[in-house]
Amino acid sequence: MSAVLIKGKEIACEIRAELKERVDALVKAGCRPGLTVILIGDDPASVSYVTGKKQACEELGIFSDSLHYSADLSEEELLKIIDEKNRDSRIHGILVQLPLPKHIDEKKVIEAIAPEKDVDGFHPVNVGRMVLEQECFLPCTPHGILQLLMRSGIDTKGKKAVVLGRSNIVGKPIANLLMQKQNFGNATVTVCHTATENTAAETRQADIVIAAVGRPGTLTADMIKPGAVVIDVGVNRIPDASKKNGFRLAGDADFESVKEKASYITPVPGGVGPMTITMLMMNTVISAERAAKRRSSC
Ligand code: GUN
Repeated sequence: MSAVLIKGKEIACEIRAELKERVDALVKAGCRPGLTVILIGDDPASVSYVTGKKQACEELGIFSDSLHYSADLSEEELLKIIDEKNRDSRIHGILVQLPLPKHIDEKKVIEAIAPEKDVDGFHPVNVGRMVLEQECFLPCTPHGILQLLMRSGIDTKGKKAVVLGRSNIVGKPIANLLMQKQNFGNATVTVCHTATENTAAETRQADIVIAAVGRPGTLTADMIKPGAVVIDVGVNRIPDASKKNGFRLAGDADFESVKEKASYITPVPGGVGPMTITMLMMNTVISAERAAKRRSSC
């Protein structure tokens, strides 16, 4: 039997409708949420993500401050722009699209963003607070995955979860969130990576597999147990001459075979992707709500 599709697009729409009400309330109180998105260079995938973020802001009534610089922008100039946005009271969230050109130190840039405006949840202060289960900004893709599981009625408590990949953006934080004691989580988590000796032996024991390696066809049907839940985070561009833009998108899982064995699966596109931007909107709204509370006005 074929797996139930976890429709990220529909769940994202549901959350965006909830957020729209919160934005309207903030606007009424004189505090329109504002998000700065900084893109450096012309990487096609990054351009596409940033366009999606801008559209989502417009749809929700969030002030969108979208900045696009050429790839030769200096690190010093970027740090100066971030400093300005840190001080700008109209801006509640700052996101610098990654990856950055090689001459810019990603760590320095992330640390330059004020933690209270770090809606990506990448600043060490937010990462530390997340690990300690304190109030923070949760990173968008992992938070989106939790929302997909929760809103699809998939319980994680006591389940075996295997995460493929240990990136700072997805693998490490989702592994941490799934094992947390408060709220959702309470899973028994294993992380597989390039030094794992037998990944298939791990995934075959998993009730939930999160594939986040960025390589198509990494997770095949023989690697999962019948009825497993598969969350596919991969967004891989496969050359395809029959497509107008010359490529099609594929996840990390071999969708056609895995869907016949899994109980639930996220499609690519239309699964995790729409949730990432939605959770960025949520963090921006949360940031504006916190600012409104701190100042009693904006
Ligand atoms: N590049 C790919 N994913 C992300 C993300 O979630 N945030 C930022 N800033 N850059 C990214």
